[in-house]
Amino acid sequence: MKKDVIQQTKAFVYQRFQHDSTGHDYAHMERVAKMSHYIAKKEDADPFLAEIAGWLHDVADSKLTDDPKQAEVELRSFLESLYLTEEQITVIMSAIETVSFRKGKQPNSVIGQVVQDADRLDAIGAIGIARAFSFGGNRENTIYSESSEQKNQSTIQHFYDKLLRLKDQLHTNTAKQIAKERHLYMEGFLNQFFQEWDFLKKDE
Ligand code: ADP
Ligand code: NI
Repeated sequence: MKKDVIQQTKAFVYQRFQHDSTGHDYAHMERVAKMSHYIAKKEDADPFLAEIAGWLHDVADSKLTDDPKQAEVELRSFLESLYLTEEQITVIMSAIETVSFRKGKQPNSVIGQVVQDADRLDAIGAIGIARAFSFGGNRENTIYSESSEQKNQSTIQHFYDKLLRLKDQLHTNTAKQIAKERHLYMEGFLNQFFQEWDFLKKDE
């Protein structure tokens, strides 16, 4: 039964995200789903509900769909078509509502915390770096710029605005542990980036 629910969820997500080029593709949904399962298991939360919420966490996101309200309606009727109780649907829906770090909402359930942590872990480390430049390129932002008006639009600036702060905004100990290495990797990347950026400056 649980296997069927997961299968149908994957198909629903695949249909919506297979063509994404902003770093919110099917593979992002799969990583967040699996990481949610992993964290939930370690934290004694329900891995099944965490995984479903992980698969679906970006379905009604305003930056990924033209009509988030409609996406939310479709999401609810999809969940109602599965073998889930009303209580399980409520837990999944409320976790999805609070996951986005842009909206700055605080999850009010453990499942919400787990999925938010899983989504944040996917925004840091090597994969997080790749996703940031993919997102920035899609938005036609520069990689980096020293001029003050362009600087704020650059993907490198996004590391300072958001990505380097994420490790201190995690809820679960499991995610905090995983984040340590990924955070250090981003710091190393930025050091190397600026070393290369400044390499020829000494000869100017
Ligand atoms: P959420 O999906 O939680 O609402 P965001 O849309 O802000 O959060 O971020 C999701 C992904 O998009 C992250 O990997 C993040 O790095 C990337 N992203 C968001 N805004 C930018 C930006 N201005 N420049 C580069 N990457 C960004
Ligand atoms: Ni996401």
